[in-house]
Amino acid sequence: MAGKIGRNDPCWCHSGKKYKICHQAFDEKIAMIQGAGHIVPTHDLIKTPDQIHGIKESAKINIAVLDEIAEKIHAGMSTEEIDRLVYERTTAMGGIPAPLNYQGFPKSVCTSLNDEVCHGIPSEDVILKEGDIVNVDVSTNLMGYYSDSSRMFCIGEVSTEKQKLVQVARECIGEGLKKVKPWGFLGDMGQAVHDYAYAHGYTVVREIGGHGVGVEFHEDPWVSYNSRQGTEMLMVPGMMFTIEPMINMGKVEIYVDDKNNWTVYTEDGKPSAQWEVQVLVTEEGYEIISY
Ligand code: MF3
Ligand code: CO
Repeated sequence: MAGKIGRNDPCWCHSGKKYKICHQAFDEKIAMIQGAGHIVPTHDLIKTPDQIHGIKESAKINIAVLDEIAEKIHAGMSTEEIDRLVYERTTAMGGIPAPLNYQGFPKSVCTSLNDEVCHGIPSEDVILKEGDIVNVDVSTNLMGYYSDSSRMFCIGEVSTEKQKLVQVARECIGEGLKKVKPWGFLGDMGQAVHDYAYAHGYTVVREIGGHGVGVEFHEDPWVSYNSRQGTEMLMVPGMMFTIEPMINMGKVEIYVDDKNNWTVYTEDGKPSAQWEVQVLVTEEGYEIISY
């Protein structure tokens, strides 16, 4: 791909600049790292300034929706009510909830309680009660630009055990973020998340991970939080992905609900917690796009 562009041709990044003064050295550096046996991003995973602008507009909605949920979530509320709030706020701001009808998903948001690891389906029958921990996972499509983030909420008085799980899951994001910088590897971030969770006696779900995001809901790369330093895809400025590890209090094993084919549970019935941020790799390190 890079080989076909002449030094004086316009750069593939649409900057309008000549390739030789724009991304030529960058491509050569990536080719060298690839030559050393690493996985490297393709050009289509590198966001242009226009795309980044559009994605940030989308993220404004995603963040506003989660802020509203944070204000309104309470014991006695059904997860269906959360779904309604997400739909109303997102569409009022001009967006579309990305989960709605995504591969047949029936609702606008995922609400996952206690031993539900992810992809809980909002329902009139699920009433939040004191002591629950719940993940609300919001994703927005605004004019073809995607944002995706999730937060945990503790309903009323929650056991110290569960509070600690929620807190450590949040700290895992911080540990991972410290490793997000250009010319590092996704495995640097993955190992940091993994090691922090295991140091607290928890486990990290293996089968479900994060993903590239921005121009599509789910893009390459698939992002593991059980990976090793120096492995997985090279991070370069302009790449965007989610950090969203699912942290189990007990065993690592999970299963999928065979009635709805969506909701994932812990095999041992112990609680699981997840926070999700969307990050952009920058020249200096990273920028949080949605949280
Ligand atoms: N935000 C979830 C993710 O991490 C998306 C689940 S939406 C669903 O990708 F439709 F797939 F449930
Ligand atoms: Co996601």
